[in-house]
Amino acid sequence: MKYFITGGAGQLGYDLIKELKKRKQDDYLAPTIEELDITDLEVLRKVVKDYNPDVIYHLAAYTAVDKAEENKDLCYQINVVGTENIVSVAKEVKAKVIYISTDYIFQGNKDGIYEVLDEANPINYYGYTKFLGEEEVKKLKDYLIVRISWVFGLNGNNFIKTMLRLASENKKISVVSDQVGSPTYTKDLARLLVDMVIENKSGIFHATNEGYCSWYEFADYIFKINNLDVNLKPILTKDYKTLAKRPLNSRLSKDRLDEENLERLPSWQDATLRFCQELKEEK
Ligand SMILES: NC(=O)c1ccc[n+]([C@@H]2O[C@H](COP(=O)([O-])OP(=O)(O)OC[C@H]3O[C@@H](n4cnc5c(N)ncnc54)[C@H](OP(=O)(O)O)[C@@H]3O)[C@@H](O)[C@H]2O)c1
Repeated sequence: MKYFITGGAGQLGYDLIKELKKRKQDDYLAPTIEELDITDLEVLRKVVKDYNPDVIYHLAAYTAVDKAEENKDLCYQINVVGTENIVSVAKEVKAKVIYISTDYIFQGNKDGIYEVLDEANPINYYGYTKFLGEEEVKKLKDYLIVRISWVFGLNGNNFIKTMLRLASENKKISVVSDQVGSPTYTKDLARLLVDMVIENKSGIFHATNEGYCSWYEFADYIFKINNLDVNLKPILTKDYKTLAKRPLNSRLSKDRLDEENLERLPSWQDATLRFCQELKEEK
């Protein structure tokens, strides 16, 4: 199988490429943004047609959620026009597209857990562009839309790294305690994304590590397993201003994974523990 990957240099892309190599799926092409900008349809078409992939993992995105509120045009170009371009060339080479989406396509005000077919109502501009990307991808015959949340991986900045840095600076740390969701470790997700393609799955899925927590509980656990004595305080969303709104409820149902006999990701605590260990080994 031949894989074309956008965003291969990003947080998730790094682990996806490692996983593909591990599984001996090593016929892939993953151009960097300097080599290929997905907003340039003509260049994209030429590169994809020349390579002629069976599968396109479309991970590239404008991911700066707060900045997106001020840089709407750029965010739209990359997340919507870029995805339209991917869909257009995927049709031409008859490739399956795997599109990574987000909990931000929901408002986060549902009483229960979000199911894959719940109606979208994006909470912020980034979420709106990712939702429009989903709608484009749905025009294909064969696609996967995989919604994830609270992502962390070795190759990128993320909440765990920020918490560890703040702790090393002996800062008093305030973390929101009324936003609940699930962290997603890119290494665990990469395994599932490869399984899904090899097992020829399609449609919409939610995929995060198992279990739910608030950001405050997540931070508390990070400090506990790293034996850090931190002055950690819970705060409420209403007292923590951000440019982009964040959902209070990001709980995503993973039932579809069971229905399709796909292995769920390990618990978020297990993933956080392994990630912190790997961070230490990297140093
Ligand atoms: N991070 C999260 O918490 C989160 C949550 C839910 C969903 N997701 C989704 O998961 C996917 C992977 O996220 P991630 O955390 O791995 O993102 P990331 O680390 O920001 O990586 C995104 C990659 O896309 C590249 N890129 C941006 N614009 C491009 C363009 N016009 N043409 C080609 N490449 C371009 C970036 O290159 P540069 O770095 O050089 O700009 C970067 O390598 C994204 O689709 C994102 O929307 C992420």
